[in-house]
Amino acid sequence: MKKTLLVTGGAGFIGSHVVRLFVNKYPEYNIVNLDALTYAGNLENLKDLDQAPNYVFEKGDIRDSVLVDELFVRHNFDGVIHLAAESHVDRSISDPMAFITTNIIGTVNLLNSAKNHWKDSFSGKRFFHISTDEVYGSLGKEGFFYETSPYDPKSPYSGSKASSDHLVRAYGHTYGLPVIITNCSNNYGPNQFPEKLLPLAINNIKNLKAIPVYGKGENIRDWLYVEDHARAIDLVYHKGRDFETYNIGGHNEWTNISLIRKLCEVMDRKLDRKAGTSAKLITFVKDRAGHDMRYAIDASKIEAELAWVPSLQFEEGLEKTVDWYLANEDWMNRIISGDYEKYYEQQYEKR
Ligand code: NAD
Ligand code: DAU
Repeated sequence: MKKTLLVTGGAGFIGSHVVRLFVNKYPEYNIVNLDALTYAGNLENLKDLDQAPNYVFEKGDIRDSVLVDELFVRHNFDGVIHLAAESHVDRSISDPMAFITTNIIGTVNLLNSAKNHWKDSFSGKRFFHISTDEVYGSLGKEGFFYETSPYDPKSPYSGSKASSDHLVRAYGHTYGLPVIITNCSNNYGPNQFPEKLLPLAINNIKNLKAIPVYGKGENIRDWLYVEDHARAIDLVYHKGRDFETYNIGGHNEWTNISLIRKLCEVMDRKLDRKAGTSAKLITFVKDRAGHDMRYAIDASKIEAELAWVPSLQFEEGLEKTVDWYLANEDWMNRIISGDYEKYYEQQYEKR
């Protein structure tokens, strides 16, 4: 069936994998990628789609309600997959306002346009909001985040994502807008901006620079390969139930320090370095303010309802990821010149 879908944030890390999956898998769909190309957006992530006849890029800001409305009129979207966001916790701590405006107001602009443009009939329409497990707060040693877990966000980033989740549900409840939300754990894989732990560490190891590990490195994250997240988004978009929430996670918990040690082993092997060379770069630095201790997702709902399971074992995913960064040095080098250097100095010189 012909459809036009709006994907927001498609030039970012997860968004680019989602756009690629949809453009290639559904030639009968038109995929419109709306992205402001902030520091995190990179059209190079999608250069293989330049000639795809069913793909359109629109440069624009979701905070601009007039533009968002105009796009709904021009493209007559059947559905929205909303990924555009400010996504990095450390940046939200040093400068929260962009998180409030993009993650909250930007989301409301999209909700308003969808509601108004689809008002004659919501039939066949879907507003899919991509969210994070961080809205549930922080776990102790035991337990998991369920779809029913209470919201308890603890950083300006997770607070802004929690606000947007509440507003999405409110539009579903009040106006009947067919909304759906997923809350996913930490993604890793190709094209992730090197402010996030894994690409930052890969790049530093390659350049024999210190690997900054916050606090004692005991915080735990649940890692999922990005293409497995994109597959889950495809399944939920097509087979999920309106007004539902689905948690997505990798059953793959690592303390930061054991993850970095594992990465060091892989990097030594790939770079033909003597075993133990990379681990010497590990440097414990000042902890992140309000650092969440542990995230772990119970993904049994999406597994039971939609038969989704992660396809990759972590060891395989990590190898693929390292291979990609080592083979795409130009991608990394273009990013780490200029503004990235300034950011890196501000974040890490003082730690
Ligand atoms: P990212 O930072 O790599 O990409 C975000 C994209 O949004 C960029 O292309 C950027 O240019 C665009 N963008 C930012 N502000 C915009 C604005 N005002 N208007 C239009 N576009 C704008 O983020 P990511 O890691 O790919 O995350 C994508 C989504 O998934 C986010 O909503 C995030 O909260 C969520 N999420 C991320 C993870 C993760 O581990 N990375 C896990 C769970 C959920
Ligand atoms: O859980 C999902 C979330 O995962 C997403 O919603 C966010 O958008 C995404 O950025 C990610 O958040 P984290 O804060 O968990 O990811 P980050 O890569 O920044 O950090 C992972 C862990 O590593 C965290 O405990 C902090 C730590 N860390 C991070 C950096 C950048 C370090 O020890 N050193 C570092 O230099």
